[in-house]
Amino acid sequence: NTYLVVMAGGIGSRFWPFSRTQHPKQFHDVLGVGRSMLQLTVDRFRGICPPENVFVVTNRDYVSLVQSHLPDLPVDQILGEPIGRNTAPCIAYASYRIAQRDPNATIIVSPADHAVLREEEFRRLIREAVTAARQHDVLITLGIQPSRPDTGYGYIQYMDGPENRLEGNDLHKVKTFTEKPNGELARAFLESGDFLWNAGLFIWQASAILQAFRHLLSDISEVFDEGAAQLGTPDEAAFIDEAYARCRNISIDYGIMEKADNVYVLPADIGWSDLGTWDSLYRVGQRDPQNNVIDGDVMLYDTQDCIIKTPSERLVVVQGLEGYIVAEYDNVLLICQRTEEQRVKEFVADVKAKK
Ligand code: GDD
Ligand code: MG
Repeated sequence: NTYLVVMAGGIGSRFWPFSRTQHPKQFHDVLGVGRSMLQLTVDRFRGICPPENVFVVTNRDYVSLVQSHLPDLPVDQILGEPIGRNTAPCIAYASYRIAQRDPNATIIVSPADHAVLREEEFRRLIREAVTAARQHDVLITLGIQPSRPDTGYGYIQYMDGPENRLEGNDLHKVKTFTEKPNGELARAFLESGDFLWNAGLFIWQASAILQAFRHLLSDISEVFDEGAAQLGTPDEAAFIDEAYARCRNISIDYGIMEKADNVYVLPADIGWSDLGTWDSLYRVGQRDPQNNVIDGDVMLYDTQDCIIKTPSERLVVVQGLEGYIVAEYDNVLLICQRTEEQRVKEFVADVKAKK
């Protein structure tokens, strides 16, 4: 059986103040289409995985938000984490839980904050990956043609030639996986032309990922092996509290994808973007003739190349800005040069420290 695990526990701090600890971006209608990022994510897998096999992993503080966004999802399929420990513990939790119900499960792991424009092609590729994962003991990721030396992604180099493909499909064996390289390395990867971005979307059998944890993150698998019998029982929450206190903070990319030797990539031309930063939203947004992306009640004069997102009732009037982010949410107003957007994380940290 095919299962979907949606990772929806990030706080999206690069997207502040639109994304807040109280209300992170996966619960926003970022694209302005009337559905939140979380809802769009689950919608995207319609027809691939039955609703009773959908799991969402999130912080316990967001469980009721998830319920309100996905009212048809049974509450015991929302896995609440006591603290964020990044994606490796999140995936371990969901995989152990699913494997206990169905040891032969095939699992799709998806982030909750991506946009995919070509959904039919996306589903075709996911089906192809699921079929391959059922037959082979492999870890599959989708690979995106990179367009800029972005240091926020994982870079995948794959091997060419028919001997490095999984039979009968377009899956290539991965040679190197480099998570979040520095700028120099990212530029070299881009120029060399044989790297793909990791889309952060994984397909594997439950048994294959549990095996990978036991080899590469055995400190985490030991914790879950010890308590596996408590999963799905009334003791689950207490066990998870203890388990998360014992797990280190590490992403699946650093912990497993960089090190495993059975990783395959499926190149995917699906109109993908990670809506992780202001700039990513600027890139996918509708531009006005002055190249501004606007969402809100806004009047502009002599203003260009800006992203302005002010969803409140307030009328916003701007004159003479070029290349700025203007974002208002709740009680916060951010005005920041677009080229300096990586500093948003720093602002958030300072705001937290001030409180
Ligand atoms: N439940 C849960 N718990 N979810 C989490 C946690 C956690 O502790 N941390 C992150 N997530 C969720 C986020 O909400 C997001 O949907 C997804 O996991 C990925 O986390 P990000 O924090 O957005 O990762 P990233 O963007 O820095 O990097 C990953 O994605 C890139 C593509 O977007 C990596 O996989 C990169 O290799 C990849 O290129
Ligand atoms: Mg991301």
